[in-house]
Amino acid sequence: MLVDTHCHLDFPHFDADREVTLERARGAGIEFIVNPGSDMESSRRAVSLAGNYPDVYAAVGIHPHNALSLDAAALTELRALAQSPKVVAIGEIGLDYYRDLSPRAAQEEAFRLQLDLAAELDKPVIIHDRDAHADVARILEEWSNARGSKGGWPAGVLHAFSGDRELAEAGFRWGFMVAIGGPLTFQNARRLQGLARELPLIHLVVETDAPYLSPHPYRGQRNEPARVTLVAETLAALHGLPLAEIARQTTTNARRLFRIK
Ligand code: NI
Repeated sequence: MLVDTHCHLDFPHFDADREVTLERARGAGIEFIVNPGSDMESSRRAVSLAGNYPDVYAAVGIHPHNALSLDAAALTELRALAQSPKVVAIGEIGLDYYRDLSPRAAQEEAFRLQLDLAAELDKPVIIHDRDAHADVARILEEWSNARGSKGGWPAGVLHAFSGDRELAEAGFRWGFMVAIGGPLTFQNARRLQGLARELPLIHLVVETDAPYLSPHPYRGQRNEPARVTLVAETLAALHGLPLAEIARQTTTNARRLFRIK
């Protein structure tokens, strides 16, 4: 059994075949998926999907692209939504300097507000970091120091990890796990593969980020949760372990991360 720790099942890409997509995931041995929010509407949809399907859990949060939408009213609604059953994390939150769709100061403000919300509710966080490693590290280090030993472990996950070994190890010190997705399977992904081989399995989870980042040989197509298997297979090959062992460890990690019994 595997867990897809990051899948945007609520996105319109799945409107025509959401049920069938979930059925294919079940058929591929996916035990559960976590649907993160990217704005308020998608956070609401994630909570509603989690209510409809036993194997879907939700996270709620405002993606850095939508940072300007996090006003006081939105934060209040997010706080209420986060307390719904089956909301297992705050996310995805963070910084995106690749597309820079929101002013960086607004991204940082929204990121900090939501980190504080997670600390207040003692929920793990799902971190989006694109081309913003230094600032994400600075903010997470401050947050982690302020939180001290009060918060639960794990503190969260560095989703779609694209940093180096130094950032991964800093993340482990702050109580974070690292999530690996489809890019691990790309034929030109030697750097990420080298890193994934070195990182201890006790800190790793797998994800798809569907509908994005479809693994090889489906690169460029719409991604779906069943394909997290291809990520796990690549990870198994890199570690020289049977797929069953990778599945066992990453599923244990995912349950720990999202505090799912
Ligand atoms: Ni995502």
